Amino acid sequence: MSNTILVGAQWGDEGKGKIIDFLTEKADLVVRSQGGNNAGHTVLIGESKFTLHLIPSGILRANKVCVIGNGVVIDPVSLVGEIEGLKTKKIKVTAKNLLISDCAHVVMPYHRLLDEARELAKGKNKIGTTKRGIGPAYGDKAARVGLRVSDLMEPDILTAKITKNVKENNKVLKAMGGKTVSLAKVLADYREAAAKLKPFVINTVVYLHEAIKAGKEILFEGAQGTFLDIDHGTYPYVTSSNTTAGGACTGSGVPPHRMDRVMGVMKAYTTRVGEGPFPTENQEISDMLHGMGREFGSTTGRARRCGWFDAVATRYAAMLNGIDDLAITNLDGLDGLDTIKVCTHYKLGRKLLEVPPSDVRLLEQCQPVYIELPGWKTSTEGAQKFSDLPEKARSYVQKLAELTGAKLAIASVGPRRDQTIVL
Ligand code: IMP
Ligand code: MG
Repeated sequence: MSNTILVGAQWGDEGKGKIIDFLTEKADLVVRSQGGNNAGHTVLIGESKFTLHLIPSGILRANKVCVIGNGVVIDPVSLVGEIEGLKTKKIKVTAKNLLISDCAHVVMPYHRLLDEARELAKGKNKIGTTKRGIGPAYGDKAARVGLRVSDLMEPDILTAKITKNVKENNKVLKAMGGKTVSLAKVLADYREAAAKLKPFVINTVVYLHEAIKAGKEILFEGAQGTFLDIDHGTYPYVTSSNTTAGGACTGSGVPPHRMDRVMGVMKAYTTRVGEGPFPTENQEISDMLHGMGREFGSTTGRARRCGWFDAVATRYAAMLNGIDDLAITNLDGLDGLDTIKVCTHYKLGRKLLEVPPSDVRLLEQCQPVYIELPGWKTSTEGAQKFSDLPEKARSYVQKLAELTGAKLAIASVGPRRDQTIVL
């Protein structure tokens, strides 16, 4: 029996969906513990492409139980849409394979509008959020005025709390010059979604502890990435949850000493979507990847910013998350390059830094220090075993693992299940 936490070691979109799908083969349960439908996990099975936002990607395999834990924020209307979308693709979603925590907080339409209004008000200092209302929903949770899933399940409480909150938030929205929400519509939509979600709702903490007692294996599916963590990321250009390994404990109710392993997922280069500092950002590599039709966001469709691999960041990610094993994805994205740069340190004034400064203003002043590695100029897409990779590609990924300070366990050379090399 072993429980694994999977985290993104960069700024999200590391290819976690695919790696989770791969690891789920051996797990019994897959648990989401933070974030909301700001996440977009893409999994390709045969010719079918699935993009999941709230439901753990484990749902795509038979006989696995998926849990949306207490630390997640749930947009119930969007979740119902996701369940129905999976059903039309012949994926079974029942109260036997999907469980929703009664303590998870609910994303409301006014959260989405506030998210938008606050971004507009920030002007050029905007965060570049997904506008899914994630920040305002976590804000209400911390302010103790949020609705939890258990509130949605009680019609009287649902009506009372939504009425109060809509009135209050409409005042704020009006003052900000934004759109307001219709109470009648919110009540109708949320009552309908609540009735549809009711069969899935339980105390997931008790469920998970019983599963652990029964010797089941759990995979904790991280969303977003280390540098979007509300505490440890490039604040304020972050999301509003703990995306680092500790978030899996608080967001699920499974204690730290029941966790056995942390796997970090990182791309063979770096991407970021949204605003905020990105020391190794590079226009040429962005153009090259976009030209290949890659690196467009799965949630918002935005073109992602791209750059060289940043080992200063991943080294810090290995420290913060306690990463044991690494999965390096998108290696095939670099197949055409003559030489590849890798950032090993930052220069800040005259100082050489091993890990990023925590203050975003200092991070903005950091200059990347690069080493250059030779490209392999061969397609890696067909590689099945590590020895199938060109020698230069093998040295490249081993170098990334060495600089990060963790053991290379998986290399991925394409979106398909069979493009996954296990070391
Ligand atoms: P929010 O989570 O929508 O509030 O957005 C805050 C920041 O996190 C923005 O820069 C988003 O682009 C980024 N972000 C949120 N979710 C994801 C994700 O799943 N992948 C990559 N970036 C994300
Ligand atoms: Mg994504």
